[in-house]
Amino acid sequence: MLTGHAKLAGILGFPVSHSRSPRLHGHWLQRYGVDGAYVPLPVAPERFATAVRALADLGFRGANVTIPHKEAAFAVCDRVDPTAHRAAAVNTLVFRDGAIEGSNTDGWGFLANCADAVPGWTAKAGPVVILGAGGSARAIAAALLDAGCPRVTLVNRTRARAEALAKALGGSIAVAEVPPLAEAAMLVNTTSQGMQGQPALALDLAGLPRGAVVADIVYVPRETPLLAAARARGLAAVEGLGMLLHQARPGFEAWFGVTPVVDQELRDFVGGDIPAR
Ligand SMILES: NC(=O)c1ccc[n+]([C@@H]2O[C@H](COP(=O)([O-])OP(=O)(O)OC[C@H]3O[C@@H](n4cnc5c(N)ncnc54)[C@H](OP(=O)(O)O)[C@@H]3O)[C@@H](O)[C@H]2O)c1
Repeated sequence: MLTGHAKLAGILGFPVSHSRSPRLHGHWLQRYGVDGAYVPLPVAPERFATAVRALADLGFRGANVTIPHKEAAFAVCDRVDPTAHRAAAVNTLVFRDGAIEGSNTDGWGFLANCADAVPGWTAKAGPVVILGAGGSARAIAAALLDAGCPRVTLVNRTRARAEALAKALGGSIAVAEVPPLAEAAMLVNTTSQGMQGQPALALDLAGLPRGAVVADIVYVPRETPLLAAARARGLAAVEGLGMLLHQARPGFEAWFGVTPVVDQELRDFVGGDIPAR
């Protein structure tokens, strides 16, 4: 039940009808008894900056930002934190003291999900191979390097894009044509391969060491063919839904004043309508 004091937030995207974030934040709002609302906000790219300023004027606490607005959100901010700066993209806006603040919680959500799914997991464990060089690869590579990962290797269909990303991020990051699996402590898929309606990822995992971890950020279906192949080999597998849940936590805390928890009840609720495989 909303009162006149209700705290407001939402998600800006175009389209936005596919987003699970209203369901996710709605669940937390109800669980923690917050007087607040989180709504879908479909906004066309040419209206984005105007819409963000209008939300601030309307008293919204902030908003999440999804495809195709993450780079535009970076541009509209008065201040961005180091994670957003490294990602050159913003997925979480907070309106505070008349200013628009931006952060990027995708990389943080990825790390938090790995630590949640694999007890004792750390980015420092060894080299990581990332498949893909898009927006998610950028946020995840930056987060891994900042968390002490000794080496990241990018493998992408369009090699030039991987090289541009490696150059932009700097540090211990390389580009390869063939994934260097033998030395990898972790393999991460950030391409859309394996997503429902897309071809599965054609990669033989036989070359991975026995203790390697395989993560997929695709979460429709929850168990992608890559994760199924990893489990079949006895490797730890990290599903993508958890990243979506964890990346939402900092925004919820900033807008609604409660630190939310990711647990099985939330996974079941948000992932309930996602095919298992
Ligand atoms: N779990 C989560 O919280 C979460 C968060 C964000 C995104 N995602 C998922 O992650 C995926 C990527 O998102 P994004 O925002 O990073 O997308 P993006 O910026 O468009 O990047 C897509 C990447 O996938 C590669 N790719 C696409 N189709 C391919 C194919 N058929 N074969 C080989 N490579 C292919 C692209 O290679 P090229 O450079 O050659 O085009 C590029 O590296 C999506 O499936 C999205 O749903 C999950």
